Amino acid sequence: MSAQNVVLVTAATGNLGPHAAARLLDAGVSVRALVLPDDPHRDRLPEGVEVFHGDLADPDSLDAALDGVDGVFLMWPFFTLNVDTAPAVVKKIEATARRVAFVSSVGVHIGLEPVDNNCHAYMEQLLEGTSLDWTFLRTTGFHCNALGFAPQIRAGDVVRYPYGAATRTSVDERDLAAVGAAVLTTDGHAGKKYLVSGPEEVSQAEQVRIIGEVIGRELRWEDIEHDAARRAMVDSGWPASYADGALDYFAQLTTTPEVRSDAVRELTGRPARTFREWALDRADAFR
Ligand SMILES: NC(=O)c1ccc[n+]([C@@H]2O[C@H](COP(=O)([O-])OP(=O)(O)OC[C@H]3O[C@@H](n4cnc5c(N)ncnc54)[C@H](OP(=O)(O)O)[C@@H]3O)[C@@H](O)[C@H]2O)c1
Repeated sequence: MSAQNVVLVTAATGNLGPHAAARLLDAGVSVRALVLPDDPHRDRLPEGVEVFHGDLADPDSLDAALDGVDGVFLMWPFFTLNVDTAPAVVKKIEATARRVAFVSSVGVHIGLEPVDNNCHAYMEQLLEGTSLDWTFLRTTGFHCNALGFAPQIRAGDVVRYPYGAATRTSVDERDLAAVGAAVLTTDGHAGKKYLVSGPEEVSQAEQVRIIGEVIGRELRWEDIEHDAARRAMVDSGWPASYADGALDYFAQLTTTPEVRSDAVRELTGRPARTFREWALDRADAFR
């Protein structure tokens, strides 16, 4: 193993970032976290991480955080930030770092996400144009996306959401973090595009049933119509093109299960966590 010395984690205080930081610390790396100056979630980061204030919308604000780094665990917060500054950010990373693990999406893997959607496919294209040793983690949705059901489950026994029959192979965010840490701290991953998923196919309605079993309640799924779901997603802040992409994908997954891979086991040496394992660990969020 050739551990990198210093790795910067971007989007560090979200669902994945704190786990990424923890796994990198485990690997003996000095970990920096890029954090917005007014970020209320800074305390999610594990002890031992060096916090640097910076904003991906302002590439020059990254200079201190990037100074002297060897690797970047790169995530772009597409939901709240467009990609206008991405070319300048990638250029700055190229000027200092050698390795980048970019958290991409299964949508690129299956050809669902076009480059002009200005999302993961666009970022991949930018990175491919650099001299960096890049690796793409084309992940399925995270187990923790099911936290989106939590308010309805705490309030009652019915979850209303579109496409309950959509069969997902969601991945535990802790496993994805471990994959990214392995990519940044061991050799042989440059130029690789890994599909990263969980170990099993579980429909969205089954996820809710499993959560119910874990918290000792009988929960019920109720499909809401595509158009109503789209309106609700856009009203809650989703860019319209992302809402359309997600809903079309859910529709497709009602007849064709999501793709699956063994990347977690192959890259971390441990089996990927099931959705039930995740639900047991996060049960309190649904009570
Ligand atoms: N979730 C999924 O199912 C999924 C599937 C495929 C790919 N991905 C990829 O995985 C990545 C990580 O997902 P996640 O769920 O961990 O993300 P997340 O929870 O939405 O976290 C986003 C993070 O980015 C930070 N941030 C927002 N705007 C920023 C800016 N201008 N400059 C610097 N930091 C900023 C946020 O800080 P604040 O808390 O202060 O806003 C937060 O720490 C995503 O970017 C996405 O591309 C996710």
